[in-house]
Amino acid sequence: MDFSAFSRFDLDRCVLEFDRAVRVVFGEASARRPSPAGEGTEDNLDAATRRDAAALMRVNHCGEVCAQALYQGQALASSNERVRTALEKAANEESDHLSWSAERVRELGGRLSVLNPLWYAGSFAIGYVAGRWGEEWNLGFLAETESQVEHHLQGHLERLGNRDARTRAVIEGMQLEEAEHRRTAESLGARELPEVAKHGMRLAARLMTTLSYWI
Ligand SMILES: [Fe+2]
Ligand SMILES: [Fe+2]
Repeated sequence: MDFSAFSRFDLDRCVLEFDRAVRVVFGEASARRPSPAGEGTEDNLDAATRRDAAALMRVNHCGEVCAQALYQGQALASSNERVRTALEKAANEESDHLSWSAERVRELGGRLSVLNPLWYAGSFAIGYVAGRWGEEWNLGFLAETESQVEHHLQGHLERLGNRDARTRAVIEGMQLEEAEHRRTAESLGARELPEVAKHGMRLAARLMTTLSYWI
């Protein structure tokens, strides 16, 4: 029996996964579509607004790092070709979100979270486990994640108010697509998660967003 093909495949996959993780974590991914922030001139932002907007976008970048890992973990675990193909579009859009948010953080003079490797590893593991639970739960987990992200982004829009139109444009663009991702997961047969699971997810998200606002 020839095992060389298997080991070569595994090694290739490991290298590919590692390369992807590094690009995601260090914000080097490039977007397929231009950022909703557009080319327009920067609002006359005072220092406090600029700092706050950069920190909010750092939090959102962390969320997108997690989304990359979740979708990736689920794609590896799921054996259903139909679901994998349907989620591919969402995963590609998540890559754009990742790039747009990193770009906006840099434009505002901020930096990305040093905890990104931790968020990526944790989310990848959660995505992989969710992917093993069976299709309906797996999709239910994705739908709930997207729904919580939608609400979280709404909170950022309310906090920014009418300050910083370019940051708002990025957040609004992402929010529209997160809603679409939720509907995709629902249309594929997502099961609603029990309240205790939703609550646990909200707690984990609060920990991530609080920490990444600062570090
Ligand atoms: Fe996203
Ligand atoms: Fe999404």
